[in-house]
Amino acid sequence: MTIGRYNGGLNARIFVKLILSVLGVLVVALTAVDFLVSRVTDRNYRDGLREELLEKCYMLASSGAALTQDRVPEVAKQGAARLTIVDAKGTVLADSEANPARMENHLQRPEIARALMGEAGFATRHSPTIGVDFLYVAVPYGQSGGALRLAVPVSKIAQRVDDVRGKVLWATLLGFIPSILLAALFSRHVSHRLASIIEYAGKLSQGDFAARLRDTRHDELGVLSNKLNETGSKLEQMVQELEREHSELEKLERIRKDFVINVSHELRTPLASIQGYTETLLDGAIDDPAHNVKFLGIIRQNAERLARLTADLLALSRIELGRQKFQFGSYNANQLIEENTDSMRPISDKKKIDLLVEYTDPEIEVYCDSEAVHQILSNLIDNAVKYTPEGGWIKVGAKATRVGEPVRFYVEDSGTGIPPAELPRLFERFYRVDKARSRELGGTGLGLAIVKHLTKAQGGEVGVESVVNKGSTFWFTLPDHDIGKPESEPVQSQFITP
Ligand SMILES: Nc1ncnc2c1ncn2[C@@H]1O[C@H](COP(=O)(O)OP(=O)(O)OP(=O)(O)O)[C@@H](O)[C@H]1O
Ligand SMILES: [Mg+2]
Repeated sequence: MTIGRYNGGLNARIFVKLILSVLGVLVVALTAVDFLVSRVTDRNYRDGLREELLEKCYMLASSGAALTQDRVPEVAKQGAARLTIVDAKGTVLADSEANPARMENHLQRPEIARALMGEAGFATRHSPTIGVDFLYVAVPYGQSGGALRLAVPVSKIAQRVDDVRGKVLWATLLGFIPSILLAALFSRHVSHRLASIIEYAGKLSQGDFAARLRDTRHDELGVLSNKLNETGSKLEQMVQELEREHSELEKLERIRKDFVINVSHELRTPLASIQGYTETLLDGAIDDPAHNVKFLGIIRQNAERLARLTADLLALSRIELGRQKFQFGSYNANQLIEENTDSMRPISDKKKIDLLVEYTDPEIEVYCDSEAVHQILSNLIDNAVKYTPEGGWIKVGAKATRVGEPVRFYVEDSGTGIPPAELPRLFERFYRVDKARSRELGGTGLGLAIVKHLTKAQGGEVGVESVVNKGSTFWFTLPDHDIGKPESEPVQSQFITP
């Protein structure tokens, strides 16, 4: 609405300005043309008339006709000029327009004086006899040395000049009509384009950044349109970026809330148990030898769980914030595996599970922090033991494809396996396939999250393949050379992932 009204005004303003400027040019052109045409035609006519009169004068003078007062008016009429005959003393003998007897002596007239001297004479002046301006041409005439003069009123020249001026001015005026039409068309075209630019600017100011101008010409308005389009697309990108950041922040906020809920929940269970059994003991059970040791055992178990939970949470946040110091170095793959399986053997033996090492090429080395690898492997072997029934087996090994490529470590078990739907979220904090069972087994659901973050911090990847009731294979990779991972670096990209 506003844009429409504004454009109307804009159209009118541009139109009026252009038309006024064209009219201004027209007036200047007409004045200049008029001035030139007047001057040039006046001079041309005057020269032409003089030549014509001179010719006529000579013709009459040489015709030998007796130019007496009674003959003069008729001859003058044929020559379309006033004819005057003067004798050698300047006395007017005959005149086609006046009575010679009343006319004064013409000796002083410059054209006559010149003719009496034997040459052609010319003059333009006011005739006191007739009362108008005349162009005079006089030549010598007759045996006795007189003069013959022809004269035409100057107004005749002015009239002819005016005729020409009129025609030229009309022609000029007509010539300007196409210019005026062109100016009107041009103003319409320009104001149209300006109107779309203004409309577009209005859209931008209202936050509609998706629209674009289609003016691709290379003139100033085209360039302006391009610049506005660029501005529009930059704003659009910025808005998209902001929206993306906003949704990322929302996601982060959701994760943070989930995390707080999870942590409180995980803390509450052992705390409630500790509180409950402590109160029972204080209420008298402490003197009951049949129960007091059992209750104290439960309290210790829950305190241990709390300690493990806080230690795991601290470990995770240390890695994420880059506070975990890594000491990178080259380590033999077989040796790393062996050290870890040896330390885990007591728990696998306890459950009668075969913990087997599948040795790889003894040359294979990996670039890592051995303590971090120890944590990764013990978490994976611990899980494998937890989720493999008695009598099962666990195989730990490493595979290298090519020099320069990461080395892949794996912990394979013949355990319960994990349903495919659970696999994508397995490495999230607190995520457990069977919460109750995991808790029963003393798990907090942080083990795999720690594995993932430790692996990433060393420049590796983690993954899992599993078949329900058959077993699972957890794997992680480590570089076989120094890839320039800093000894402590915030795992920022991980921070926004659970
Ligand atoms: N080898 C495995 N076989 C079957 N399920 C497994 C195996 N390893 C992990 N899981 C499943 O993945 C879940 C997450 O493992 P994670 O190690 O993070 O937690 P947890 O073992 O329950 O507790 P924590 O390791 O903190 O003591 C487990 O609760 C379990 O459901
Ligand atoms: Mg675990």
